[in-house]
Amino acid sequence: MNEYKSANNKRIKLSREQIVNIYPPFRLMGNLDNKKIFVPTKRHLYIHLPFCPKKCNYCYYKTYEDVSTEEIEKYISYLKKEIFLYSKLPLVQSSIFKTIYFGGGSSTMLTNEQLEDLSTFIFKTLNIDKDVEFCTELRPSLSYLTIDKLEKIKNIGVTRISFGFQNFNKEILELNGRDNTIDEYKEIFKRARNLGFRTINVDMMSGMLGETKQTWYSNIDKLMEFDADSVAFYKLEIYPNTNLFFTTRKNKRTKSAHFMTDEEEQECIEYAYNSLLKEEKYKISSYLHLVKGDEHRHVQNDGILKCEEIIGCGVSAHSFFNNAIYQNSYELKDYFSILDNESLPIERSYILSIKDLIHTYFVYGIKNMIIDLKEFNKRFGIDGYKYFKKAIDFLVSQNILFFSSDKILVNNKYAMYADDICRYFFQEEHKNINLTFIPRKKLANNLY
Ligand SMILES: C[S@@+](CC[C@H](N)C(=O)[O-])C[C@H]1O[C@@H](n2cnc3c(N)ncnc32)[C@H](O)[C@@H]1O
Ligand code: SF4
Repeated sequence: MNEYKSANNKRIKLSREQIVNIYPPFRLMGNLDNKKIFVPTKRHLYIHLPFCPKKCNYCYYKTYEDVSTEEIEKYISYLKKEIFLYSKLPLVQSSIFKTIYFGGGSSTMLTNEQLEDLSTFIFKTLNIDKDVEFCTELRPSLSYLTIDKLEKIKNIGVTRISFGFQNFNKEILELNGRDNTIDEYKEIFKRARNLGFRTINVDMMSGMLGETKQTWYSNIDKLMEFDADSVAFYKLEIYPNTNLFFTTRKNKRTKSAHFMTDEEEQECIEYAYNSLLKEEKYKISSYLHLVKGDEHRHVQNDGILKCEEIIGCGVSAHSFFNNAIYQNSYELKDYFSILDNESLPIERSYILSIKDLIHTYFVYGIKNMIIDLKEFNKRFGIDGYKYFKKAIDFLVSQNILFFSSDKILVNNKYAMYADDICRYFFQEEHKNINLTFIPRKKLANNLY
């Protein structure tokens, strides 16, 4: 054994005793994990269908209106190519897809043949779980969502449909670029119920242009009559790629139309949650979703919030896969031309460090209303409570979070503030990054 003096005058002892071939030490190996090594990883699939009969004024998703059946046909052929390229990746071959989600846009714009063709291809090309949650978003317009289209959607295996109702007030819908009526919604909902989909979800949006507290209260009363299995509440955000951004900036809105303040919007959403939670009619499944029972939980959304991986196909689609977040080409021409070169159409990406993953687990956990410390420890080998002690202790002292055995839960009362709460778990350098282009507060202040 030799003793050396290091640079700071400390003594270190070095010896040549044991060779380190494998770390962690091979003696840790037993036979209990043998069968677990090649178990396929559960993952999720998102398919972007960027077509709508008409673009809603507030919608920031990548969608196209007035698209011909031939153009949709072309898009589907490229989607199939992208799915095929994925299917050749070893990581995808060792995946089992727990969920499929057709988002957009709306699958309402595809013909029955196109719906059949795309879904058959997916089931044929990827390993799809036998109990897959197959969900599609649907724009509730009677002229597009005909009875036979809805039947086709059921027949291709869709288990969960999601209607974007947003609002039941005709004037508000019109102001926001929607030409729907509540009678139309009722008829479509009845048809879907008769077909026996496992879960019908309804999306509602708070703070739309023209909404007041009174119109919102009436909206919630009407919503209760639908008795949907699941309801998702979105808070209107104004993005620069929307008609709404353009018209409000240009101040072209009608005199009677206004945006509510953040405080009013908060009261509205509180009213909505309280109405749904009354007499335990619904329960909170994630900060966004309220469901009638656990069988109506949104498996894909839950999976994303548990940091399970998701592959997004289609123009502008987002993925979290192989420890990276990435987004596909935003323009159709780029999407097509990259695929023409037999490459995945990825435009921008970011590879997550272990630290990113640790923080993401907590940020999404808050949005999912539950953080499993045991699972966290298994995944990262560290004590989550110790790592985030300062933030957790503070939020517990405020009664926002509480412990239940080895889980941290968000108090139901604060579900609607999950987006604020989760910021306590951001990395310091991410705390000041603005996530939406214009905070509503600023916009409301400017307009009053
Ligand atoms: C991709 S959209 C699809 C819904 C479906 N196509 C429809 O509108 O009938 C999913 C949900 O995002 C929400 N959403 C769209 N634009 C939004 C915005 N600017 N701010 C907040 N939520 C928005 C809406 O509630 C919408 O139902
Ligand atoms: S909200 Fe739905 S229907 Fe409206 S433009 Fe967006 S995706 Fe299309």
